[in-house]
Amino acid sequence: MKGSSLITPIAKRLEGKVALITGGASGIGESSARLFVQHGAKVVVADIQDDLGLSLSKDINGSNEAISFVHCDATSDSDVQNAVDTAVSKHGKLDIMFSNAGITAGNLNPSISAVDHEDFKRVFDVNVHGALLAAKHAARGHWPFPRDKLSQGYAYILTHPGTETS
Ligand SMILES: NC(=O)c1ccc[n+]([C@@H]2O[C@H](COP(=O)([O-])OP(=O)(O)OC[C@H]3O[C@@H](n4cnc5c(N)ncnc54)[C@H](O)[C@@H]3O)[C@@H](O)[C@H]2O)c1
Repeated sequence: MKGSSLITPIAKRLEGKVALITGGASGIGESSARLFVQHGAKVVVADIQDDLGLSLSKDINGSNEAISFVHCDATSDSDVQNAVDTAVSKHGKLDIMFSNAGITAGNLNPSISAVDHEDFKRVFDVNVHGALLAAKHAARGHWPFPRDKLSQGYAYILTHPGTETS
């Protein structure tokens, strides 16, 4: 699907906005990336699945370079910093951070006695620490937050992942 769509300009609610979506190469993140582009946003997808992320940007882009991909492990401080830097250097700003990258535990047995501690720590690392790093780096440069920008949708930080184990 190309970036242009049947959505009329008046329905383009994200025109002029720049969004970064962690875990945007597949699933909910990918669908969000496609929707954001349909609504006029420039999107940077940050994910560990390089092949999927690159083919997504190839699939969506027409001539307008609406979407790009950057390799990013959401649990890595430097990767998330680099993803934000990429969005800002490419588009001059960051309006929307969608902290969407998340995993569920490999062992889906709901019994407390079956909990694999390492598995659970990994879920926390991606779903909780990943969201923290996304918020940290999206906020960089916006602090102290300019109060006059509050009503202009200057920066949104959205966190999505849960910490479910099954
Ligand atoms: N699907 C649901 O019903 C549901 C319900 C509640 C919450 N969620 C949460 O929504 C988010 C997306 O769910 P989904 O169903 O699209 O999952 P998904 O597995 O289809 O997609 C997750 C994406 O995150 C990426 N990812 C995983 N670990 C990463 C890491 N360390 N760094 C960067 N990217 C990473 C994956 O490569 C993948 O592209 C998850 O956080 C999930 O926990 C999903």
